[in-house]
Amino acid sequence: QETGPRYRIGFSQCTGNDDWRRNMLVEMKRELFYHPEMQLLYKDAQEDSKRQVQQIRELMAEKMDILLVSPNEAAPLAPVIAEVYRKGIPVIILDRKADTDSFTAYIGGDNYNIGKLAAEYIAGQLGGKGRIVEVTGLRGSSPTVERHQGFHDALVQHPGLQVMASLEGGWVAPKTREAAARNEAVLRQADVIFAQNDVMAYSMYRYCQEKGLHRIKFIGVDASPYPDAGIDLVYRGILSASLLYPSGGKEAISMAADILAGKKVPRNTLLQTVLIDSSNVQLMRLQINKIQAQHQEIENQQSLLQEQRRLYQDQQHLLRIVVTT
Ligand code: FRU
Repeated sequence: QETGPRYRIGFSQCTGNDDWRRNMLVEMKRELFYHPEMQLLYKDAQEDSKRQVQQIRELMAEKMDILLVSPNEAAPLAPVIAEVYRKGIPVIILDRKADTDSFTAYIGGDNYNIGKLAAEYIAGQLGGKGRIVEVTGLRGSSPTVERHQGFHDALVQHPGLQVMASLEGGWVAPKTREAAARNEAVLRQADVIFAQNDVMAYSMYRYCQEKGLHRIKFIGVDASPYPDAGIDLVYRGILSASLLYPSGGKEAISMAADILAGKKVPRNTLLQTVLIDSSNVQLMRLQINKIQAQHQEIENQQSLLQEQRRLYQDQQHLLRIVVTT
């Protein structure tokens, strides 16, 4: 007899509208296949913290058994997350943090180290001397603060490097473009633009191309495996480098399964980064292609399996009819 999913996994995503988060969801769904006992309730807050609070309330009303949440901004999401946790619902916070200790576990990339590695790479590229413009994510979201901190702490070792401006691009292209337009004079003097994600780095690149600023180098973060995303942009020489920011999607689902099965899980899981530039991008691409081909193969086998299962159930059903009539 077929039993439906026993657990509802609430997933409150700050935005679903970019390659990095699209990839997170793909990784989650892949892992969910191994957990037929779990059903995903997915809500996309479209970069709106108020809406995200509202959606977490909806997930409570829908009686989720566990909450996965990537908070748009750390402060406005803290109270509702604490409320969920105090109700006895386990909470896994993903990638962006909240200003509360009321959660079960955190999973995310090492944002401080990302900032630090970016600064060291730039120091190496510029021979310790040059002008930098930093483009940050949303000021209220935690990776912005941590990447900025790591970046600036590492730059202390390189007095010849000057950060001329730190512009807020809010993680997205339109806002980055506006910031670029308001600060064109500063951009004209820059040797390197370090943007805290590839979306903003690419937006800056396009702006600078249009303005004839061809000398500037661009560095981003994420290295997502899609056309026009990080790895592809490094491969095409549009970005000099990108720091890999693992999504944690797979880890989140398997941790949720562990928690629901009553297992103990680590409070903090920090996912490692690696810098991708022209020296290793080819290797990365080969590996990604290989992994994607393997996943495709697994997915094909899974759908075959499902088909078999369905056939089997139909036959059982027929058999029951024959037996009972
Ligand atoms: C995607 C994103 C990534 C960035 C992360 C930070 O929405 O902006 O590009 O690395 O969020 O939380």
